[in-house]
Amino acid sequence: MRKIIFDTDIGVDDAFALAYAAKTQTILGITTVFGNVSVGQAVKNARLFSQQIGLKAPVFRGCSRPVGLAQVTNSALVHGSDGLGDALHNPFDEQADNAISFIIDTVKSLPGEVTLVAIGPLSNIATAINLAPEIIPLIKEVVIMGGAFGTHGHAGNVTPQSEFNIWKDPHAADLVLSSALPVVVLPLDVTHEVLITGEDIRQLNVPVLTQISKGYLQYSLEREGFEGMALHDTLTISWLNHPEFFTTVKSPVRVVTEGITLGQTLRRLTQLASRFNPFANCAEQTLCLEVDAQKVKQAFLTSL
Ligand code: BDR
Ligand code: CA
Repeated sequence: MRKIIFDTDIGVDDAFALAYAAKTQTILGITTVFGNVSVGQAVKNARLFSQQIGLKAPVFRGCSRPVGLAQVTNSALVHGSDGLGDALHNPFDEQADNAISFIIDTVKSLPGEVTLVAIGPLSNIATAINLAPEIIPLIKEVVIMGGAFGTHGHAGNVTPQSEFNIWKDPHAADLVLSSALPVVVLPLDVTHEVLITGEDIRQLNVPVLTQISKGYLQYSLEREGFEGMALHDTLTISWLNHPEFFTTVKSPVRVVTEGITLGQTLRRLTQLASRFNPFANCAEQTLCLEVDAQKVKQAFLTSL
């Protein structure tokens, strides 16, 4: 069981990840960020979903817009206009204490013990290390759902090359991924391999998951052509519980921050002799490129 800060733009698969984390990790706090929904809606969703699953963790409000480019989109088609499938009444307030201060103060008070789980745009993490770079060596690990490296044909889900969380704030992602932080990346290469069906979800002991996932399942079937929903964010928690279910490679990572491949994640495929080496001075990160999907799915279902 790790001590985690759960950083989220809470939509449907984020909620699944939170339910899994609540069972298997110590959640020090939930920091919210814009992405699937506005940051205010993310605060409300974090409070509502925590209440539904009986989780008592403080909720904080983070970035309302990217560190870099503003991408004017939302995820209503996938996650519903409220981010939780438009299935629940949400009476909660959207004001909350500052997420960036919470990240910095918590890491400083527990040096070497805090894992950041980041499953939305990386704006909060980038801002925290920008403001307080001294926390970088104090963070145990940053576990990110984001990016796409093309294994099994999973290139992008928002553009042909780019994954949503990275594309939403490519500058923040490039800062975090090329920093000295120890990062583990769960890209679409693995997250798109683990699907659960409506029947799997109904059999869980968490009725709210059935309620919020109806629209997402319908979207996957009608728009993406497969039955079931990709567990995406949930795989960050799978990594914490069962790293042995993943095959990893070590590589520095950069993010394209302009042009038609905006938001694409690049890893080093060969050693470069060129004088322009985009990976110079970038730490080697851990990239999960293969997964035992059956084992990940089974462990998740069993735990819930
Ligand atoms: C990511 O995009 C979001 O819509 C999901 O919550 C997940 O974090 C998948 O690309
Ligand atoms: Ca997410």
